Amino acid sequence: MFESLHALPADPILGLSVAYQKDGNPNKVDLGVGVYKTETGETPIMKAVALAQRQRIDTETTKTYVSSAGDAGFNDKLAKLVFGAENPVLARQCTVTTPGGTGALRMAAELIKRCHPGATVWVTNPTWANHTALFQDAGLVVKSYRYFDKDNSCVDFAGMMEALKAIPKGDVVLLHACCHNPSGADLSQEQWKAFAELAKEKGFTPLLDMAYQGFGVGLEEDAFGPRYLAETLPELLLTTSGSKNFGMYRERVGALTMVAENGTRAEILSSVIQNVARCIYSMPPVHGAAIIDIILGSNELSALWQQELAEMRGRIHDLRALLVEKLHARQDQKDFSFITRQYGMFSFLGISPEQVRRLKEEFSVYMVDSSRMNLAGINHQNADYLADAIVKVL
Ligand SMILES: Cc1ncc(COP(=O)(O)O)c(C=O)c1O
Repeated sequence: MFESLHALPADPILGLSVAYQKDGNPNKVDLGVGVYKTETGETPIMKAVALAQRQRIDTETTKTYVSSAGDAGFNDKLAKLVFGAENPVLARQCTVTTPGGTGALRMAAELIKRCHPGATVWVTNPTWANHTALFQDAGLVVKSYRYFDKDNSCVDFAGMMEALKAIPKGDVVLLHACCHNPSGADLSQEQWKAFAELAKEKGFTPLLDMAYQGFGVGLEEDAFGPRYLAETLPELLLTTSGSKNFGMYRERVGALTMVAENGTRAEILSSVIQNVARCIYSMPPVHGAAIIDIILGSNELSALWQQELAEMRGRIHDLRALLVEKLHARQDQKDFSFITRQYGMFSFLGISPEQVRRLKEEFSVYMVDSSRMNLAGINHQNADYLADAIVKVL
């Protein structure tokens, strides 16, 4: 049976990580894989997570099965974190625990197929590399719409709206709720409102991928798009991830939220999505979900978590400003100020694949071929070296 298979290339971003590990240059800089790093290059366990985990271990009494919806406490609290605790939308939504944000996206794909097997999923151009592969692997057609204006390093909103006008009822439009990966270019509140109007008029269903709540402007501000769309549209799909904002990458915790026209439909969705989960993995892992449930259920741990999240967010903002300052101090050929107007861990530096190759081969500076940088890989020790290297390849 297996003789028909051929080896597949490794994921390019993970491949970059391997190449970085092997590089003996003491000045090497890793701006590749999308994990948060401290000034000393570590991705530590957040204090709130460590405390909640200890509490979980001390109080857990059983490892018996849970339902296909996962951890009920987590599902409830996560929906409140996204929409706000008093939002009437809570009465017409259903949230289930999933294995990470990726698992939530795959569950969304399976749900879309059950509702509308011929649906096309429209993704931003560019988007997180795994979006296209994941939806295609689930058997859906994936197409992209204009999103990022490379010349001006911002959202091409007019182009995006023009493209979306042609999308038929029943198709799904995926948008990043905040901290667009890979560009860092997000919609303004006015743009979210205009997008909602168009979705209402055209009848397509938005699917919001929120992998970075709290990494952009703040927990509340980053949720503006999901809240506005949920409040103004009858239906919405939303995926979230605990990998980044709780730093629980390897615990695989995320959620799929389905907003329906009314509570009765939300209950039907709950039964359908649990049936989907039962057929794929039966039930999600809940260790990470239980930890988040403990944090969000405790005023003290919530405050600590929010403080740690604010520190991560602040550090990324500062690094954006630092890089721009260093680059502008060395040259005036290219304006990099757009980097400070973008959000989350990523931005395109805006150089060619050839220049990216030179950065890697001549200076051991690692970033994705598209020139997407993970800004969290910068620190006060490597910033000058990095800026010198970039200016040399410009
Ligand atoms: C836009 C986007 N969506 C989803 C994910 C998946 O996150 P997880 O690690 O929770 O599966 C990522 C992770 O990098 C991401 O950047």
